[in-house]
Amino acid sequence: MLEKINELKSAIESLSAKSKDEVEALRIKYLSKKGEVSALFNDFRNVPNEQKREIGQKLNELKNLATEKINSLREAVESGDSDETAIDLSRTASPIELGTRHPISLIRNEIISIFSRLGFSIAEGPEIEDDWHVFSALNFAADHPARDMQDTFFIQRSPDVLLRTHTSSVQSRVMTTTEPPIRIICPGRVYRNEAISARAHCFFHQIEALYIDKNVSFADLKQTLLYFAREMFGADTQIRLRPSYFPFTEPSAEMDISCHLCGGKGCGFCKHTGWVEILGCGMVDPNVLEACGIDSKVYSGFALGMGVERITNLKYRVKDLRMFSENDVRFLDEFTSAH
Ligand code: DAH
Repeated sequence: MLEKINELKSAIESLSAKSKDEVEALRIKYLSKKGEVSALFNDFRNVPNEQKREIGQKLNELKNLATEKINSLREAVESGDSDETAIDLSRTASPIELGTRHPISLIRNEIISIFSRLGFSIAEGPEIEDDWHVFSALNFAADHPARDMQDTFFIQRSPDVLLRTHTSSVQSRVMTTTEPPIRIICPGRVYRNEAISARAHCFFHQIEALYIDKNVSFADLKQTLLYFAREMFGADTQIRLRPSYFPFTEPSAEMDISCHLCGGKGCGFCKHTGWVEILGCGMVDPNVLEACGIDSKVYSGFALGMGVERITNLKYRVKDLRMFSENDVRFLDEFTSAH
């Protein structure tokens, strides 16, 4: 009898059920009138008197155990906490579709990474600026056309508060607050009051680079540009510098790269010249250094600035600038496989 009780006890302890029906079947199997526990109670009659006390106690314990076990199985099934529906923490998560990076971000990150390999670190400044950081500190004459309402979005006049028209404003911010050597790259959004078309937008992105130290020369600028062009557009890329004018650099230049579509032979893309324009650059004008509190007799430097949309167009041949800000998923999905 004792043996039988122990057997049933361990069987009941390891019971499990996945549905209400299964719980009910177990109840019938063990606790109904003809169930296995009840059967033992029926056999109790035949137990010798001297064992009745011990066995009676064991039998009652067994019945309680069976009742509790079956009740708890029923509760688990009813609350949905059965083996079948419990959270399986070992399951792999169902594949989640990842978003894609915007092409402008992809190219910006690539440019940043190239310059960071040369020791440039990121600097940022505000998009809402004052006249001094955007124009005056950068040697723009008081009547320079870039200050005009036609180019610049003004938020407030005298004192002027405006949306920066170029990331060169970060140069003046960093130069006024940092002792040279300075080696920064400044990515950011800029604003100009232009009619929106396939080729122009009222906001776009630029990246500015600035290097100020003792004895920085035009040769340093040229080598930096060559390194950048080859990392960005391939090892065969040639560069050429054309003299230009910017208020904040002297001398100033514009850089072209050999057309990477035709390899410089001339095609529709490069208007049969073999060259495409990439960026503006030059040696920082001593007036700018002095305006920002840097001794131009001790320090010199170079600066360069480029439009991220332009570089992105060259890489991905996006024909209409407006695609960049329309957020059409069919366009954005094109860049799924990019990093
Ligand atoms: N800020 C100029 C622009 O918006 C770009 C530029 C040209 C930046 C020459 C420079 C530079 O730092 O040296 O068109």
